[in-house]
Amino acid sequence: MSAEPLEIHLDDQDLGRSLRRDVRVGLSAGQKWLPPKWFYDTRGSELFDEITRLPEYYPTRAERAVLAERAAEIAELTAAKTLIELGSGSSEKTRLLLDAFVRAGGLGTFVPLDVSVSALRGSTTTLAADYPGLRVRGIVGDFTRHLDRLPTGGRRLVIFLGGTVGNLLPVERAEFLARMRAALEVGDWLLVGADLVKDPAVIVPAYDDAAGVTAEFNRNVLRVLNRELGADLDPEAFAHVALWDPEHEWIEMRLRAERPMRVRVLDLDVGFAAGEDLRTEVSAKFRPEGITGELDSAGFRAERFWTDPDGLFGVTLARAG
Ligand code: SAH
Ligand code: AVI
Repeated sequence: MSAEPLEIHLDDQDLGRSLRRDVRVGLSAGQKWLPPKWFYDTRGSELFDEITRLPEYYPTRAERAVLAERAAEIAELTAAKTLIELGSGSSEKTRLLLDAFVRAGGLGTFVPLDVSVSALRGSTTTLAADYPGLRVRGIVGDFTRHLDRLPTGGRRLVIFLGGTVGNLLPVERAEFLARMRAALEVGDWLLVGADLVKDPAVIVPAYDDAAGVTAEFNRNVLRVLNRELGADLDPEAFAHVALWDPEHEWIEMRLRAERPMRVRVLDLDVGFAAGEDLRTEVSAKFRPEGITGELDSAGFRAERFWTDPDGLFGVTLARAG
């Protein structure tokens, strides 16, 4: 089957509106910040895929090891008819699950949802060709806003891989999980990948690789602002910073102004002091009891928790109760 045309819940106008709102709020704040979803234009999605292949970036390999080991069990336990993937990107690791579901029989539809049109075009085209028995229905949408538009009917399994749940701040995460629960029926399933707390000497290099790919990914958000909003930020005037915050147990990616600057963005005149940071991403690391507790508070029951052999990354299979 060829992929169906993408279902657009987030058009250019809508994207532009929310980018302008986020920029206005984030760049006027005392501690400047931007939400991480703006990394992912075509180039940003490519850079993220490059990150997943870096020697320092362990989360993708570790999560892939869990999925390779547990895919058949996940297919059997959930017996899902519809598989929905949030923040699907290239859906590369998802193939392990799709293969297991095809072997088990019963899965009819795969629904990847992402803000990145380019990532979805690529994934839906190749997946539809590689899984001819499957209906592939890509949705351009924002998982913080469009969970009420997910397909209904039949037993559903929603997957949220890569540790992307950790890119939400704690309050946003609680809101996201509550909305996720509200969008599901009792008995539907949720599979969440979460990077685990470990020695910062392992975590920090994963966000500050020797080849400088993560630095380019980080600076890409400035290129997005320049292109979409006609801003005049100089990406080369910002240094890439990856900072471990031991209190919150998260990594912060920041862009640090290397000299004083005044930049025009929208109708704002934004001043950066030398050494001032713009926070571009938080990537929270979890303890197993933390993940289970958050799922529980949102009305899910964690039924399985698996890690890779090195205990780097956790995958939780939970059921809507
Ligand atoms: N799941 C893949 C990709 C992770 S990268 C993996 O495990 O490798 C994060 C993905 O989430 C990107 O494709 C990005 O475009 C998407 N994304 C980020 N914020 C989003 C949001 N608010 N709504 C929908 N997709 C989002
Ligand atoms: C998508 N997300 C889980 C990645 C992470 O590790 O937080 C994004 C990323 N940022 C820097 N490198 C990768």
